[in-house]
Amino acid sequence: MRRAFIEEIANYEGQEVKLLGWLFNRRSKGKIHFLIVRDGTGFLQATVFKGNVDESTFREADHLPQETALALTGRVKADPRAPGGYELEVTGLEVISRPLAEYPITKKDHGIDFLLDHRHLWLRHRRPWAVMRIRDEIERATHDFFAEQHFLRFDAPILMPTSVEGTTELFEVELFDGETAYLSQSGQLYAEAGALAYGRVYTFGPTFRAERSKTRRHLLEFWMVEPEAAFMTHEENIQLQEDYVRFLVERVLENRARELELLGRDPKKLEPAAEGNYPRLTYKEAIELLQKIAPEEGIEPVPYGEDFGAPHEAAISKRFDRPVFIEKYPAAIKAFYMQPDPENPELVLNDDLLAPEGYGEIIGGSERIWDLDLLKRRIAERGLPEEVYDWYLDLRKFGSVPHAGFGLGLERTVGWIAGLAHVREAIPFPRTYTRLRP
Ligand code: 4AD
Ligand code: MG
Repeated sequence: MRRAFIEEIANYEGQEVKLLGWLFNRRSKGKIHFLIVRDGTGFLQATVFKGNVDESTFREADHLPQETALALTGRVKADPRAPGGYELEVTGLEVISRPLAEYPITKKDHGIDFLLDHRHLWLRHRRPWAVMRIRDEIERATHDFFAEQHFLRFDAPILMPTSVEGTTELFEVELFDGETAYLSQSGQLYAEAGALAYGRVYTFGPTFRAERSKTRRHLLEFWMVEPEAAFMTHEENIQLQEDYVRFLVERVLENRARELELLGRDPKKLEPAAEGNYPRLTYKEAIELLQKIAPEEGIEPVPYGEDFGAPHEAAISKRFDRPVFIEKYPAAIKAFYMQPDPENPELVLNDDLLAPEGYGEIIGGSERIWDLDLLKRRIAERGLPEEVYDWYLDLRKFGSVPHAGFGLGLERTVGWIAGLAHVREAIPFPRTYTRLRP
């Protein structure tokens, strides 16, 4: 007998199949027991009719506790009354293992802390299931998109001899004999080496920021996608970001409609992002917009020359129905490697992409300085030790070309697309300022 997975159960209509999974929920109408079974790919109603199975199996089916591991056999039936439109008419039921204690997550309203303390079990429930399926779709779409655009997947190291940005906080790791390393806060500098070796690369890996923030957008450990391309200009960088984000949203709308529905996420809210035409503001225009809207938003405006905080980004992004670019920030508040704007060297050719509905920054990117002397000057101006950047400077000595790239935060993107209130739900096991377990 064929083993079927719930997500493709429609293909087996009328056939006998085997299903391996866990009991999620059940109810009974006397002569029929309804078991809601999950197999990881979905949730399915399995009906056990008196007479279709032997007497003891029928009796047992009404007493199985949640999270009993099961092997079921049965016939797949279309039934408009069943959630999802299909059900399994059970002909055989085998218990693989029984819970050894009372399952801690019940139907009552548990607080978020309780659920996060039980994240290893909470993951089995519908809401985390839907989020992880959306996250998976976004990861898969990322690989499809960049492969199509001639980018090579290029894995950056996690243990770093030095900081990339010099701006955010680093986690230190002790190696041997007193030598210290840092956990990577970005794979960018290595991606630049990759871009000059292979033209177009992207990294996709965990990154770490020792930020004592308790906002709904900060994790200590998060996943970043960092494309980097030789010969790419600021304009092309912005276009690539829009094409990529559009592609992600399209893919989720196409393949994860059920999951969005389960999360109560209105797909209409995502449709503009799938259309493109993302508006662009300069840093200066964004400052001016904030001046105008600050009173009604109940926030302080930002003086020219300072960076935006989360409330400012939220206020701006609420004004748009799709992601919005903010470009050309003052060089002084951005990383040392950003290429100056030829029209105004006080500014840099960078951008942040803010997700709408108040979600805020999901991407940061820029053109990179490719002139050796300018890069050396910037390193010196920031008081950074030139010797640790020796290999990075080499990239400007041999075949240097204009190049650009960006970093997209996976959890913030999942959070926005799935409509989550906090990024901690966008990753299987969140690490935040207040949480390291489970
Ligand atoms: O803007 P950031 O700091 O950019 C960089 O690290 C560049 N080196 C990227 C590049 O050009 N290759 O971070 C990029 C993105 C942010 O836009 C945000 O989405 C995410 O990473 N991010 C975080 N996500 C969750 N928790 C945090 N603490 C984050 N910090 C940044
Ligand atoms: Mg940023």
